Amino acid sequence: MPAVIRDKEDSESSSEDEQEDHPCIVWYGRKIPVLIFQAEAIVSKDGNIRSVGERYNLAFKIVRTESRLVRGILINHGFHEVHPNSNDFNLMWTGSHLKPYLLRNLQDFQRVNHFPRSYELTRKDRLYKNIQRMQQIHGFKNFHIIPQTFVLPSEFQEFCSSFSKDRGPWIIKPVASSRGRGIYLVSNPNQIPLDENILVSRYISNPLLIDDFKFDVRLYVLVTSYEPLIIYLYEEGLARFATVRYDRAAKNIKNQFMHLTNYSVNKKSSDYVSCDDPEVEDYGNKWSMSAILRYLKQEGKDTTLLMGQVEDLVIKAVLSAELQIATACKMFVPHRNNCFELYGFDVLIDSNLKPWLLEVNLSPSLACDAPLDLKIKASMISDMFSLVGFVCQNPLVRQARPGRAAHDRSFRYQSQKPQRPSTAQPCMGFTKGSNHPARVINHPWASDPYQPLTLTPMD
Ligand SMILES: Nc1ncnc2c1ncn2[C@@H]1O[C@H](COP(=O)(O)OP(=O)(O)O)[C@@H](O)[C@H]1O
Ligand SMILES: [Mg+2]
Repeated sequence: MPAVIRDKEDSESSSEDEQEDHPCIVWYGRKIPVLIFQAEAIVSKDGNIRSVGERYNLAFKIVRTESRLVRGILINHGFHEVHPNSNDFNLMWTGSHLKPYLLRNLQDFQRVNHFPRSYELTRKDRLYKNIQRMQQIHGFKNFHIIPQTFVLPSEFQEFCSSFSKDRGPWIIKPVASSRGRGIYLVSNPNQIPLDENILVSRYISNPLLIDDFKFDVRLYVLVTSYEPLIIYLYEEGLARFATVRYDRAAKNIKNQFMHLTNYSVNKKSSDYVSCDDPEVEDYGNKWSMSAILRYLKQEGKDTTLLMGQVEDLVIKAVLSAELQIATACKMFVPHRNNCFELYGFDVLIDSNLKPWLLEVNLSPSLACDAPLDLKIKASMISDMFSLVGFVCQNPLVRQARPGRAAHDRSFRYQSQKPQRPSTAQPCMGFTKGSNHPARVINHPWASDPYQPLTLTPMD
């Protein structure tokens, strides 16, 4: 913890801290200015929106990744970019996990976009092992949220015995990869290489189809704290469609454009249809999640039940890695609000309307190839930054001021006793039916409280 030094500035009421009415500032505890992000800044370049970041000299650095969207939103809020080696930043946005020494040196107002050991969720093998452990502790059916999986070559025998009961097809995946790379279907254990570490998962062969096409959904999940656990699910997501009509016949087993729904895979198909109008959300190979829900509702499907199960799945997946990540935070992270993380959940809905978790992505793609991407992702990132809570503090001013510690935005949760896991402890903001996706997840300073969710009681 940095020393809290009462200096001259503290005893005076600095003009900087005098409350002003500004659309980008919310005053926490009447004293601490905190930045509220505006999604429209990405297009409007409004000087008034920039003024707060400029006045407080807010800074960010981007390390080992590139994101035009994140950079654009920050710059349009008056942040300036510093060198990746600089320590004078409010936000470090990185594409990979952070070394412990980098975390240990963080000051209380600094934010980084990863938790230590997030790979417990985002590596496919670790995710499965963690959920399997929860199945053993809390009952299989309570954590039956992910297709059965074996880690090869070590579990080859177990896989063969499951294969003898369910002859597939099964799906092979590298343990830590993305964008459909290295993924293929097999119908016989002989087709599986045993000289590399891979996963073999039960293939969900009855996906819900729209117009005969398979799709999955990318959902955005923000965790702002692991102790206490605080989870937000963004109300909007993206559905990605395959480019070839689904047909279970064995002869199609090698057709990636039919069985994989990744944008990276299907954009290579000549049948890929993109949409140039951000207001049209149900056309071509990428739809908004809300367009999917509207479509299903029209078909008479119970979308409230579906989304309840999706929320349940999100909470349970995060819970499965909670202990490891919270322990790492205790070891390496000096202040409770330093870390936050945006996860990309890939969810497949089957024809019985059961959602299955396929994987959790570290650093989900923020690329905006289509106008719909920009519309959804700009709002989502703006809301995320508002939730994360950037205290308007000049990073060049090192001394923390008395009372600053009290701005900790998680204080409102501190009274909650850690209770596991059948309680409402994880909180998730989920605003339904909003026609303005920018207003999604309530921020902790908002006066309108969001509803903590209750997990389905477990046996
Ligand atoms: N168990 C499964 N059943 C059916 N389809 C699956 C299954 N696992 C993956 N897929 C399909 O393969 C795609 C890629 O799988 P995923 O686990 O998300 O890996 P990647 O990291 O390469 O995106 C998914 O988007 C989905 O279309
Ligand atoms: Mg994926």
